Order: sequence, then C-alpha cells, then structure tokens
Amino acid sequence: MTFDRRRLLQALTAIPVVGGVIAILSPLFRYLKPNDKPWQIFTVAPDAPAGGAQIVGTTRSLAKPWDYFYFTYVQKFVQYDPTGFKASNIPGVAIRLPRKVRFANSQGFVGYRGETDIVLFQRICPHLGCIFNYEPDWHNVTAGYGGFTPPAFERHALMACPCHFSIYDPEYPADPGNVISGPAPRGARYFEFHIDGENIVVTGAELGGIARIEPADAAPPARGGEHTRAPS
Ligand code: FES
Repeated sequence: MTFDRRRLLQALTAIPVVGGVIAILSPLFRYLKPNDKPWQIFTVAPDAPAGGAQIVGTTRSLAKPWDYFYFTYVQKFVQYDPTGFKASNIPGVAIRLPRKVRFANSQGFVGYRGETDIVLFQRICPHLGCIFNYEPDWHNVTAGYGGFTPPAFERHALMACPCHFSIYDPEYPADPGNVISGPAPRGARYFEFHIDGENIVVTGAELGGIARIEPADAAPPARGGEHTRAPS
C-alpha cells in the first residue's frame, strides 16, 4: 500500500512537469512548423496549395491577336492564419496569340491540355522575382530592356523584365513563355487553366523558387535553355 501510494505521488508530481515541458515545446514546434491548432505539433504533411478555380477574365477581352490583360490569381496555402490559409497574390497575364500552341510539360505541370491560342503566364520573373511586363511592341523591348533585338521570327509582342532584362516569348513553339534573352534560368511559369464558355478559369499555379535551375530544366529539351529555335 505504501509502495502504491509513493508511485501515485510520483506520478502526480510528474504531471505538472510534463505539462510544463509540453507548454514550452508546443510554441517551439509551432514556430518550426506553423499551424492553426495549438496541439497539432507533430504535423509533417507538406503545405498543400488550395487556390481553387477562379475566373480571371473573359475571352471577349482578347478579341484580336496580341490582345492581353493583366490579372491576379489568389493562391491559398493551408495554415498560417486564423482562417487556416495563407493567401498569395500571383500577378498574371493573359494573351491571345495569332496561332495555336501547346504548352510544355513543366516539372509535371501542364498549363493547358491541348492546343490553345490563349496563353496565361505568371509575371513573377524566375530570375530574382521582379514582376515582368507584357510589351505589345517589340521595339519597346529593344529600347527599354537592355537593347535586345529579337531575331526576325520573334519580332512580335514579348514579355520583358525591367530588373535584369530577361525576355520571354509567349509564342515560343512547344514551350510558350520560354526565355530568349537574359539571366532567367527558365521560362515563365504557367497557370493551369481552361476556358468555360467565355470565362477563362484558372485552377492552379505552377510552384517553384527563383534563381535556380531545376533538374528537369537542365536536361534537353529544356525550358529556359539556349535560344536555338529555327526560323519558321
Ligand atoms: S528579376 Fe527578372 S531578370 Fe532578374
């Protein structure tokens, strides 16, 4: 009986100690792995993007070749704030091309399934993260972005970054948005989208960092590789 009572007292004494250790470790774990549930300290599942479908514009705004509009896609990630989500605004551009193209499979991410003459790109430059511009007149690219003169077959609207002058071709064959000049290690990132009636619906955004060449980019056929397209 004496033995049991001693063990019981030891156990009771340990309760506040254990509780104190958990109280100290919980904020530490939450600092390392933020979450919105106080005791969910051992969550290891990666954050899942949950942007959801968003109508970003209509095809009516893209009536003619090289018409464009800018938009913002709100990408959400599970966790981080009282609503359970962290939201990131991703600036984008939608462009009507003069002909149909097919998106490359970028890191397993396909922007659009099938051929399309409407293309969407994220405007966050893969070099160091500036926001690049759509330039309807290639002369503006030569004049305002470091003097790059596109070859004859690319003298059309281009996308250009004002920070270090990376230039992207929205009509690049089999890889729309490929980088054709400048330090960017790869082409412009895609949105996943489809056309529903006249609505342009974005359902996801290609994720990735900046200032690095990703493994699939290093192997041919590369995104962001050398500018080797033959004139068509
Ligand atoms: S951030 Fe765009 S070229 Fe450097």
